[in-house]
Amino acid sequence: RTLDSLGSLAGKRVIVRVDFNVPLKEGVITDDGRIRAALPTLNKLIDQGARVIACSHLGRPDGAPDPKYSLEPVAQRLSELLGKPVAFARDTVGTSAQEAAAALEDGDVAVIENLRFNPGETAKDAGERRAFAEQLAALGEALVSDGFGVVHRKQASVYELAKILPSAAGLLIEKEVDVLDRLTENPERPYAVVLGGSKVSDKLGVIEHLLPRADKILVGGGMMFTFLAAQGFPVGKSLLEPDQIDTVKGYIQTAADKGVELILPVDAVMASGFAADADHVVAPADALEDTPFGADGMGLDIGPDTATTFAEAIRSSTTVFWNGPMGVFEFPAFSGGTRAVAQALAEVDGLSVVGGGDTAAAVRQLGFHDEQFGHISTGGGASLEFLEGKKLPGLEVLGWES
Ligand code: 3PG
Repeated sequence: RTLDSLGSLAGKRVIVRVDFNVPLKEGVITDDGRIRAALPTLNKLIDQGARVIACSHLGRPDGAPDPKYSLEPVAQRLSELLGKPVAFARDTVGTSAQEAAAALEDGDVAVIENLRFNPGETAKDAGERRAFAEQLAALGEALVSDGFGVVHRKQASVYELAKILPSAAGLLIEKEVDVLDRLTENPERPYAVVLGGSKVSDKLGVIEHLLPRADKILVGGGMMFTFLAAQGFPVGKSLLEPDQIDTVKGYIQTAADKGVELILPVDAVMASGFAADADHVVAPADALEDTPFGADGMGLDIGPDTATTFAEAIRSSTTVFWNGPMGVFEFPAFSGGTRAVAQALAEVDGLSVVGGGDTAAAVRQLGFHDEQFGHISTGGGASLEFLEGKKLPGLEVLGWES
């Protein structure tokens, strides 16, 4: 069900479930990508003369109001981006939300407070979720579900609410599904998958699902050390998941059996400790402990030779999916690998997709612009689960497949 399937929404109170779960530092939004990503749907509704009630979660509060997770700064940012006033309700379904919904004129927008301030949003009990969804439903006449980042959660506003009100997916969900489908169904070849981030255990499903589909898999970030350990190399104090070593050995074997090029780092930046100003040197992947730091050294980035190899493998591909930073990009001394990979993706002649909140934040923090990539997915867990081939409740309930 797409937005157009709801017919004209002029004059109607429309609840829009978005994912405004943005990173905040001392109350200031550090990456507004998810708010920008909601604009096409919101503007379309505004242009139609709908009365928009936007709702979202932010962080993981404990089912009760918590000022540090208030959506108020988000409502302010939304108002700046839309270039029009946005009302803010200080509760989710109480008097403030009801008054804000009732006061809307055609084309107006209100944001209600963090849905997770109400225990019903994330309740394990379906009845409790349903009861909260009923209260939410009373605020509007239709639901546009556009929080792609949260479609993997069976939560009241994502799932139960869609069963109560006439509902459809918004433009962001439509775009995300379209692009992510192209990564799993007949991707244009050569197809490279670049994986980083700290843990292999977060990526097992994606590796298993994409290994038979990709032509090349490149592994960097903290998770590379489990791959290097699986090859028998000592890794000092680098991030390591010893319980995943056997699984990773299995992947190395499967890749060899299927003729998938598994490109592992040939060098790493080893540091004296986890700090922005830590001493550091480049070491070959099979001699990570042969540095002045010995077995106390900690790998914080892929090395320059690896970055060059990765960049070439990416640029020579027609479809590229990247999830997970290559190193501790927040520290400039260890951002070289992530920067090189981002630059190579920006030069891909084909479809380049950046997935995951951390990776999106990394590319923006390093000064890249969204337009330099084919698509920056707003999903973290949601895009990974989509690419794992899992069924996502927030899509299924709208009649969409993942
Ligand atoms: C995300 O940031 O991945 C989504 O907003 C979902 O958030 P959650 O993991 O707290 O459910």
